[in-house]
Amino acid sequence: MKMKSKSAVITFSLGFILSNWAWEGWCEGALEIGFYRGKCGIVDVEAIVAGVVTARFIRDPTIVAALLRLQYHDCFVNGCDASILIDGSNSEKTALPNLSLRGFDIIDDAKAAVDRICQGVVSCADLIIIATRDAVFLSLGGRYEVQTGRRDGLVSLPQNVSLFLPPPAASVSQSIALFAKKGLTPTDMVLLLGAHSVGVVHCSLFEDRLYNFNNTGRPDPTMDLFLVTLLRLPCPQNTSTNNAVNLDQNIFPFMDNSYYQQLLLNRGILPIDQELALHPLTRGTVMNLATRGFDFPIQFGTAMVKLGAIEILTGSQGEIRRSCRAFNQD
Ligand code: HEM
Repeated sequence: MKMKSKSAVITFSLGFILSNWAWEGWCEGALEIGFYRGKCGIVDVEAIVAGVVTARFIRDPTIVAALLRLQYHDCFVNGCDASILIDGSNSEKTALPNLSLRGFDIIDDAKAAVDRICQGVVSCADLIIIATRDAVFLSLGGRYEVQTGRRDGLVSLPQNVSLFLPPPAASVSQSIALFAKKGLTPTDMVLLLGAHSVGVVHCSLFEDRLYNFNNTGRPDPTMDLFLVTLLRLPCPQNTSTNNAVNLDQNIFPFMDNSYYQQLLLNRGILPIDQELALHPLTRGTVMNLATRGFDFPIQFGTAMVKLGAIEILTGSQGEIRRSCRAFNQD
């Protein structure tokens, strides 16, 4: 009897300690919706960011594409920790795929605006996530709630980029494998590539599809011939000019499901875009989104939240940067 009660006490205490540890661990490590509520007096931090993004969007609606790509490139390399924002000669920013990233100044403006009200509270990593959400909303892509509470990372190295980011000519299988490493499914991947319904791509990254696909001396047979002819105008062969064309050939520059419709018409620009409509693991999702796209904004928002939760730092990890472009100790 004595033994029994002793073991009960041990079990109870162990359970208490473990559950307490788990609870504290959860408090330390979890993102939450509205993390900044009450942390900046009565000021709504997310509303301040929305103000900055809206003002920029009115002047330049292409910031939607800039911010979407910024979040993707940040989250895939070292997690969503604002490592992409660090300046210097040997940071992530200097890696080849990141040279055409834009939108750093929008995050600077958002940081300045929130720091004017409460300094040192809001992370740059969260600012990327909030600003991207606001831009998507302004581009008619629907509004999704974002979780916050990320901390800024302490590592930003160019060599990490090619390890995790699918290259420009990536195939669907190669990309599925890289997305899986980040906990994202093929369906998440198709949804996130819906970001290609806005923004541009440089001719050099797909011109082989127009002129010399797989060294055949002919265009890619999976590209609509009319589109081939059309794209040869801004993308002439053997020139040093490197123009940019829209990733989504639909003329309305909004976040909508037209991108998937274009893919079914063989009008995808990058190899990854077109192959989504051809690969057995992604074709079904593309067809669903193209034909029943009314809930694309909701599904896209859910995928963006998942993207925003990759390998995050929380609690006492990392730091809250004073400038988004430099580590605090620099
Ligand atoms: C297999 C995955 C992906 C590949 C291979 C890929 C590749 C590319 C390439 C090569 C460009 C053009 C870059 C240039 O011309 O300088 C581009 C642009 C873009 N990508 Fe992706 N991408 C992928 C996934 C994503 C994801 C997941 C997002 C966002 C959630 C995204 C958002 C964008 C946007 C918005 C642009 C246009 C940027 C602008 O106009 O400045 N991409 N992508």
